[in-house]
Amino acid sequence: MKSALITGITGQDGSYLAEDLLQRGYTVHGLVRPSSTRSRWRIDHLCSEERLHLHEGDLTDGSRVTRLLAELAPDEVYNLAAQTHVAKSFESPELTAEVNALGVVRLLSAIRTLGLGARTRFYQASTSELFGAVPESPQSEQTPFHPRSPYGASKLHAHWVTVNSREAHGLFACCGILFNHESPRRGEEFVTRKITRGLARASQGLQGAVPLGNLDARRDWGHARDYVRMQWQMLQQEVPEDFVIATGTQHSVREFVSWAGEDLGISLSFEGKGSEEVARVSSVTGESAAHVVPGQVLVRVEPQLFRPTEVGSLCGDASKAKRRLGWRPTVSARQLCTEMVAADLDLALKERFSQASDPV
Ligand code: NAP
Ligand code: GDD
Repeated sequence: MKSALITGITGQDGSYLAEDLLQRGYTVHGLVRPSSTRSRWRIDHLCSEERLHLHEGDLTDGSRVTRLLAELAPDEVYNLAAQTHVAKSFESPELTAEVNALGVVRLLSAIRTLGLGARTRFYQASTSELFGAVPESPQSEQTPFHPRSPYGASKLHAHWVTVNSREAHGLFACCGILFNHESPRRGEEFVTRKITRGLARASQGLQGAVPLGNLDARRDWGHARDYVRMQWQMLQQEVPEDFVIATGTQHSVREFVSWAGEDLGISLSFEGKGSEEVARVSSVTGESAAHVVPGQVLVRVEPQLFRPTEVGSLCGDASKAKRRLGWRPTVSARQLCTEMVAADLDLALKERFSQASDPV
């Protein structure tokens, strides 16, 4: 029976990966931040599993990370923990580098100095943000990197440190260069979830217009469950290598807003330009949107939400992953939106009914 350590197990990917590995018969160890008791909702349903063990620690604490690896000597380490919000990285570049760049250095150094190199395989969560100011489209393993944020720069360091540990010390270390992947478990601060959660709540009269930044940004959105499967597959190869994981199609934030409206029975029309742009209700057909009226503004552009430097367009070429590992995405961006809206409408309805039944 294999064992794995997942850093970032309380996050979107960590929760799906833990499910996947438990189903495969693994013993799963998760690193959880001591302060993260409130953010364990994504793994609550797994906590009765005998083969799941949570260990408190933080990627900024090298001695804790080393002791944990010495104690567990896992077959596989999946490093998913990170300060993951690109916009926040402009405000906290030092913390972002401390966790995202030096966190990986700490893990790899521990594996090496503990003599675990021959036993422990390592997965690093690289990102399409490495491509940043893309020189070509779609982006593949051969596309040069040009990050556009402190987040992207920290992940670039992490990426090359991982590649170097393989080349210099022979570690079995792989980077998954993953394009955006979403799910009902996505954090509410990321744009897809902000849209589905915000519009679902607005459809129930629980909030007003959703403030958004750059509606023109284009992303290659896939489903997180498909993407964690590939993280495991990468560590089962004979020779460690890096892979781009993506769907190969891209859509704008504006399209995603329209889809979410459609899924709620709300037809939206966009008016105005730049920071004056809004999405207004043109008609309502769905019963689920009973609290919305034609003419109402459901999305407004908020200039403060624009980033100092933006990654305007990302689209990945995952043909290497298809060819070598038989990996294919199973969920389109449109289907993903529908799944997320359904989950967020359910939450919004519960919120409305709980408000209605609250004693005055
Ligand atoms: P997420 O939902 O934001 O989860 C991040 C995880 O990292 C959480 O468990 C968080 O713990 C943990 N964490 C943050 N700082 C930490 C620290 N100092 N020490 C230990 N743990 C820490 O992220 P995700 O979407 O699952 O992404 C997983 C990984 O893939 C990340 O490395 C991300 O950069 C990368 N990635 C994601 C995407 C995507 O589209 N989702 C695409 C490419 C790459 P708390 O719960 O305590 O906050
Ligand atoms: N978050 C957010 N909030 N983004 C907005 C908003 C808003 O109100 N309005 C427009 N956007 C635009 C952003 O400017 C960006 O161009 C796009 O929507 C996607 O933003 P996010 O959902 O925050 O994702 P991201 O692409 O910046 O980063 C995510 O994907 C990366 C992989 O490419 C994160 O998960 C990263 O951790 C990950 O590496």
